[in-house]
Amino acid sequence: MKNLLLSITVCGIIACGCAQAKELKTIQLNDPDTQRGDAVMTALKNRKSTREFSTKELSLKDLSDLCWAANGINRPESGKRTAPSAMNKQDIKVYVCTADGSYLYNPQKNTLEPVSSGDVRPLKAPVCLILVSDTSSDWGAMDAGIVSQNISLFCAGTGMATVPRGSMDKAALKKALKLTGDQTPFLNHPVGYFK
Ligand SMILES: Cc1cc2nc3c(=O)[nH]c(=O)nc-3n(C[C@H](O)[C@H](O)[C@H](O)COP(=O)(O)O)c2cc1C
Repeated sequence: MKNLLLSITVCGIIACGCAQAKELKTIQLNDPDTQRGDAVMTALKNRKSTREFSTKELSLKDLSDLCWAANGINRPESGKRTAPSAMNKQDIKVYVCTADGSYLYNPQKNTLEPVSSGDVRPLKAPVCLILVSDTSSDWGAMDAGIVSQNISLFCAGTGMATVPRGSMDKAALKKALKLTGDQTPFLNHPVGYFK
């Protein structure tokens, strides 16, 4: 695990330095630490939008807990998620964009699956989560909003920084993330540590 974390960090540094294309590998995430973080009322008190980030890479623990908080499986017996979704469609896919490339969060396997190399982060934070739905109706937007709030509260409760953003080049992201016709990026969430 230590080696994996080291290699993620090293790849990040190299990619920042000389923008080389990297061969992305599946990242096995940690089981979520459901005991961590502030109480809900404290997290709500501290939630705010932050648009500048430290360049420090996310630890594997923080990345793992972030993905699980966003839209992980919290009831394995039914496969249901930390975020509700209209008619339990579970339509929100969470893409994790880094300086090296983009990954798709797989909540069943608790992995990040490589999608494409290259830096397509709409805002330069260590990671930028892209919330995509294949339901382009209002339901998709609402479901994305709820995942967004999970991310914001996780960050507020664990001393991390984020902002929900509607601004992004959707056409470029659709291409880079290999999205199909109905899949729409609704929000992006840069996440990192405070400067
Ligand atoms: C749906 C939505 C879209 C947003 N889009 C952007 C954006 O594109 N860029 C940005 O800097 N902030 C964006 N924000 C963040 C808001 O500007 C921010 O929440 C607002 O100024 C209030 O500040 P606070 O989050 O610190 O309370 C967005 C927020 C929401 C809910």
